[in-house]
Amino acid sequence: MIATLRVDPRAIIGETDPRLFSSFLEHLGRAIYTGIYEPAHTRADEHGFRQDVLTLIRDLNISHVRYPGGNFVSGYDWWDGVGPRDLRPTRLDLAWHSIETNDFGWGEFADWSKIAGTSIMGAVNLGTGTPLQAGELLEYANGVPGTYWSDRRVAHGHRDPWNVNLWCLGNEMDGEWQIGRLSASAYAAKAREAAKIMRRVDDRIELVACGSSTVLQPTFPAWDREVLEGTYEEVDYLSLHRYYEHEGNDQDYLASFVDMDAFIRTITGTVDYVKALKRSRKQINLSFDEWNVWYQTKQEPHPWQQAPHLIEDQYSLLDALVFAGLGMTLLNNADRVKIACLAQLVNAIAPIVTEPGGRVLKQATYHPFRLLSAFGRGLVLSPISDLPRVETRYGDAPVVHASIVLDQDSGMITVFALNIATTPTQLSIDVSPLGLASFAGHVCLDGPELGAVNTFENPDAVVPHRLPCPEGYLSSYAVTLSPCSFHVMRLATRNA
Ligand code: AHR
Repeated sequence: MIATLRVDPRAIIGETDPRLFSSFLEHLGRAIYTGIYEPAHTRADEHGFRQDVLTLIRDLNISHVRYPGGNFVSGYDWWDGVGPRDLRPTRLDLAWHSIETNDFGWGEFADWSKIAGTSIMGAVNLGTGTPLQAGELLEYANGVPGTYWSDRRVAHGHRDPWNVNLWCLGNEMDGEWQIGRLSASAYAAKAREAAKIMRRVDDRIELVACGSSTVLQPTFPAWDREVLEGTYEEVDYLSLHRYYEHEGNDQDYLASFVDMDAFIRTITGTVDYVKALKRSRKQINLSFDEWNVWYQTKQEPHPWQQAPHLIEDQYSLLDALVFAGLGMTLLNNADRVKIACLAQLVNAIAPIVTEPGGRVLKQATYHPFRLLSAFGRGLVLSPISDLPRVETRYGDAPVVHASIVLDQDSGMITVFALNIATTPTQLSIDVSPLGLASFAGHVCLDGPELGAVNTFENPDAVVPHRLPCPEGYLSSYAVTLSPCSFHVMRLATRNA
């Protein structure tokens, strides 16, 4: 099969916002406890944070980490998790059927974020919580000393405000699984009041309203329209969530990016419809604050337990390829998607897995995320292409899914390419609009076994490998993409 791709620096889609490379840590299973926080571990620092985990996280160059949920936030009283540990209550976490000791809370997360070099994307409880409590948490987090809630933070050992400037107004409030689920109009009214109070506490914040929790909801996309009709001037972003799983056919699964792209386009259209309806000059952008591969059908009931092994999916090479395709679609929508959180970061549907008291492992999905984060920053160019197409459950899909990013500082171009064909594809990359370019690097993720997984015994079963690069300055390159493979190709223009 032959495919062609043209790299034209004038065909700009948009600039990647650093927040596209964000992630998510929820009080869920072992994400926090024995994930990032395990005081008794030999690699724990003086705060109890696992340094082996921190090292892997730092290498992902993550912008923001969303906290504390997720479904968890809709039943969470943030006040339970601050102040002296011996006074913190142990509670039933009704979202995940788990025991929450509250040993880890907002103060610990603020300390952890600083050490990890990440910023916080906070979430307030609009399930059982009230708009007033949302404002109190914000004052606790960002207030300067001298008022009630900021003084509580100081009394708890945190003198300096945390300056958390990005907040989710609740989580998946359309879901029947959500504690305190609301109708679209009731959610809009509650979110509006929370936004009013929160902005009065701190007018520097940006707010994300809950969009549909998934395209599979019967209320999608009417929910999104109704929520925005009630909050358009009060919020800055609308959230999107979507997880994919293998449902029988490899090529359909590999084409998941087609569905994600359609989802983003539908929501962009919905947002802009409300903008027109409101005669507003304001543009609402998108926060894809949960995306990943997740085998949801495999979930099983479990007893009440503290830090149970929950949704600890093991990811294969095939999952990592699907994941790469989704990440590339986020890049290709950089004009409207400004925030995207890989859900989640440690143990629960995560690229990083820990053993309690033991080792840490990079799952297969760790690698495409690291590559996208390392080379996906800059101006995203439209992948002008002539690509053979195949029919999939998500409709017509190109056999090669591509994203092109120009790093304006270095002049380097990165071509990401996912070959979803089960046979090799010849890709011709036309760089003539750049003049001449040289091939500066080629990394590939592929393998004979799509089901291969990384394990503690065999941690490098799925890792990217380098390929030889063509020599010299040329105006076009021919590359063979192996069957079912993800490629990161770096091109240097003559002046780079
Ligand atoms: O990321 C896991 C869960 O998926 C989150 O808690 C929830 O928001 C979504 O349904």
